[in-house]
Amino acid sequence: MANTAKLDIDGKVLELPILEGTEGERAIDFRNLRAKTGYITYDESYANTGSCQSKVTFIDGEKGILRYRGIPIEELAEGSTFVQTAYLVIFGHLPTEAERVEFSGLLTKYQMIHEDMKFHFEGFPSSAHPMAILSAMINAAGCFIPELTKDYQPEVFEQQAARLLSQVRTLAAYAYRKSRGLPSIYPKRKYTYTENFLHMMFSEPDEDYALDPAIVDALDLIFLLHADHEQNCSTATVRMVASSRANLFASASAGVCALWGPLHGGANQAVIEMLKEIRADKDDGTKFLDKVKNRGAGAKLMGFGHRVYKNYDPRARIIKRRSDELLAKLGISDPLLDIAKTLEEAALNDPYFIERRLYPNVDFYSGIIMQAIGIPLEMFTVIFSIGRMPGWIANYKEVMEDPDSRIYRPRQVYQGPTLNHYVPLFER
Ligand code: ACO
Repeated sequence: MANTAKLDIDGKVLELPILEGTEGERAIDFRNLRAKTGYITYDESYANTGSCQSKVTFIDGEKGILRYRGIPIEELAEGSTFVQTAYLVIFGHLPTEAERVEFSGLLTKYQMIHEDMKFHFEGFPSSAHPMAILSAMINAAGCFIPELTKDYQPEVFEQQAARLLSQVRTLAAYAYRKSRGLPSIYPKRKYTYTENFLHMMFSEPDEDYALDPAIVDALDLIFLLHADHEQNCSTATVRMVASSRANLFASASAGVCALWGPLHGGANQAVIEMLKEIRADKDDGTKFLDKVKNRGAGAKLMGFGHRVYKNYDPRARIIKRRSDELLAKLGISDPLLDIAKTLEEAALNDPYFIERRLYPNVDFYSGIIMQAIGIPLEMFTVIFSIGRMPGWIANYKEVMEDPDSRIYRPRQVYQGPTLNHYVPLFER
């Protein structure tokens, strides 16, 4: 394979280095293109742009492969927990027992938010979407950490990472309780990460929520499966914000905003809304798929398609199996799951979806599990945010620790008016 690519432009031939990743991804290094030729590359929506070199997550979208730090997602889903996976994603290796105990200790140490934070929740209307509250509150929580005003300090990073990972769960549960007008519930030391989240969501001051191990495991798996996904919209946002050397909490808060959109993390909520609509129409999915294929009112099959996966999303496969198991264990028969399966089968056999290589993504079945657990619809994307936090933190760390890191600053192809002149108001 070639080590360089040649670009023949304006009678000049420019040799561009080729960069190869550990899994064979090859990229043409265009960094000096403008300086040498006056040209820039154009790649709106970055579908063909490597914006960084990263060691966190590998995806082969053609083959449906996802690995965190080299470890297949299937193995982690089978044997790991969310907290150990978070450690792996952030620090690059699975924790030893001593490291696990220390990291869990930090998560417990930082699980309470500052008591004054409670007043911030008061200002939101009860109709506020919990993603808006979460984003604002993560940034606000950063205000209670004086060292965040200084530049990146590697020696306290583990503490900051644990604090963010721990508190995002507390803030998320408080946001939910606030939206329902319910009193906030403090975390308890005796609980694991995921148990504590369920406790803060569903316990009452006069009665503890009865933790069901099947539910705890299912939610822990949902968190784990979302832990990272290389340069998706929200992670790329976190890196963009981090590149200006904004602090970890501010960068993560921006990630939450990017994740909120229905084309990204908001899709898990949109899938359930779509399934409910199909059910209310007494449709078996046929009418809906016709509407999608005819581009009726911009309809899309939510939970299908992916920028990178042109194959079955491996997370969707795991979640589909788990949702079957969980519903059976809980004795729930969910008509939405039946509609989802019928839709999936119809879509996978339909030329529209086959030609475009559209397969179920992680969001197609995750809502079914969350519904079975009792997570309210508006909290689905918040759950995704908690799960994605390790990936955001790991990517933030990479930006900060890269000695060659510069502020992210794409260029544009300007298509606006050429030189124009100011006309005073009275002459317009
Ligand atoms: N339903 C119907 N058609 C679709 C869908 C879909 N879900 N997804 C893509 N297509 C079509 C597009 O209209 C396009 O058709 P065309 O070539 O005839 O114009 C073709 O498939 C290619 O799609 P793109 O728009 O180029 O795909 P892109 O990579 O830009 O978008 C995205 C990816 C946003 C995920 C898209 O597939 C989508 O909107 N899916 C539904 C929302 C969703 O599930 N998002 C979650 C993604 S995973 C995550 O963030 C966790």
